[in-house]
Amino acid sequence: MPLWRGVIEEYRDRLPVTDATPIVTLQEGGTPLIHADALSGRLGLDVWLKYEGANPTGSFKDRGMCVAIAKAMEEGATAVCCASTGNTSASAAAYAARAGLRCIVLVPAGGITMGKLAQALVHGAEVLELETNFDGSLTVARELNGGYPVALVNSVNPYRIEGQKTCAFEIVESLGRAPDYHVMPVGNAGNITAQWKGYTESGPDRPVMYGVQAEGASPLVRGEPVADPSTLASAIRIGNPASWEGAVKATSESGGAFLAVSDADILEAYHVLAEEEGLFCEPASAASLAGLFKLVEAEELEGGKTVVLILTGHGLKDPDRALAEAPSTKRVPADTETVAHLLGW
Ligand code: F0G
Repeated sequence: MPLWRGVIEEYRDRLPVTDATPIVTLQEGGTPLIHADALSGRLGLDVWLKYEGANPTGSFKDRGMCVAIAKAMEEGATAVCCASTGNTSASAAAYAARAGLRCIVLVPAGGITMGKLAQALVHGAEVLELETNFDGSLTVARELNGGYPVALVNSVNPYRIEGQKTCAFEIVESLGRAPDYHVMPVGNAGNITAQWKGYTESGPDRPVMYGVQAEGASPLVRGEPVADPSTLASAIRIGNPASWEGAVKATSESGGAFLAVSDADILEAYHVLAEEEGLFCEPASAASLAGLFKLVEAEELEGGKTVVLILTGHGLKDPDRALAEAPSTKRVPADTETVAHLLGW
């Protein structure tokens, strides 16, 4: 098996890199596209799951972060910063560590999961919990970037979008063509912007793009920013997406739409993915499947067509949620007969 070289080397000809760009890679990308056997049967569609949790830091963010960090180095930066609901900061911290850059992370106080916080800290980022939400944190990050010697690596940085579009390249290469439908969660809206860019650069056929938001954080569905976004899917708890226009372009040009799903819908989908497909993703990622269920119920999709769902982040990012959703374990004596009895034999 040839070595997968990471996003920059694999897609060099389609990314804004030159011989002067340093390669900073954790061999991100090349993630599995897994056929969802149970869901395909149940829904009468050909459903595929792009498992972005298999990236080195456990989310799709690595695809864009490697390009953003490489370009920051090329431009002589010594420090990077980002606002984050957790995954961007985990990725920024890892790539900055590898590149030897100072990394400053601004997160909404109490607003990110344990796994993601652990990642940023273990890689040596300077983490500040701001007394605001993600949107307020992003404002501070932008202002830091405007007034101080620090590069911004949020997805308002165009290199992030460039790297993230490689996910669509891989899907088209794996299926031999674009899927008919593409369903993904939307928070700050960089990723849907990037996926659409990737498809438009991949050939003539294009999927219909659906962006799924959590009901309590659904500005794109409502058509206006949400001042106080709320959802248990903390990764997409965002009220005023920075890439608003790019997201609208994706859905309108492709004939798709934005839709909102409840937290209960998200948890139902989270269980189905884990229990029927064997895939553990974080709640924000399960919003993709919750959205697909809703589209099927509304008879929006044509039977037998190909659908790709993006599972954006690994389930281990949010162990608290996983345990809260599971039955509690039993502590028992180490005695085979007792164990067998408890197991119903
Ligand atoms: N899924 C996960 C797991 C995410 O972490 C994010 C965004 C999204 C979906 C939505 O992607 O913002 O491009 O629309 N997380 C960002 C962060 C905001 O800071 O980690 P988007």
